[in-house]
Amino acid sequence: MQTYKGIVQKGSKRGTALGFPTINIPLDDANVSGIYAARVKVGEEEYEAAAYADQKRKVLEAHLLDFSRDLYGWNVTIELLKKIREAKKFGNDKVLREAIAHDVTSVREYFAHLL
Ligand SMILES: Cc1cc2nc3c(=O)[nH]c(=O)nc-3n(C[C@H](O)[C@H](O)[C@H](O)COP(=O)(O)O)c2cc1C
Repeated sequence: MQTYKGIVQKGSKRGTALGFPTINIPLDDANVSGIYAARVKVGEEEYEAAAYADQKRKVLEAHLLDFSRDLYGWNVTIELLKKIREAKKFGNDKVLREAIAHDVTSVREYFAHLL
C-alpha cells in the first residue's frame, strides 16, 4: 500500500486529550482517507500504529502503539498496510474515544495476523 514521508508537525493535542496521542504529517494525496493499520519508521526504529488519513485537514495522523515520546520535528515514514474503516463524524468525545480504542484493537489483531 502507500507510503508517506514527512516531518512531524505540532498537533492540536486533541488526540492526547482523548487518550490517544498522535504524530501528524501533512497529507497531499487526495486519494487516501480513513483509518489504517500502519507501520511508522523513525530513524532505525519501527512502530505499529493506527493511522487516520484526514482529508478535511489534509493531515496523516498516527497513534503509535506502546509509545509515548515526543517526535515533533522528526522525519518519519508512515506505511499504510490495511484499511480498517472509513473516517466518520462522531457526536461526542466519548464515542470517538471508543471508536479509536476499537481501531487500536483491530490494529493489534492485524499485527497478530488475526485480521
Ligand atoms: C486511529 C484514529 C482514528 C480516528 N478516527 C477519527 C474519525 O473517524 N473521525 C474523527 O472526527 N476523528 C477521528 N480521530 C481523531 C482525530 O485524531 C482528531 O482528534 C480529530 O479529528 C480532530 O477533530 P477536530 O478537527 O474537531 O479538532 C481518530 C484518531 C485516531 C488516532
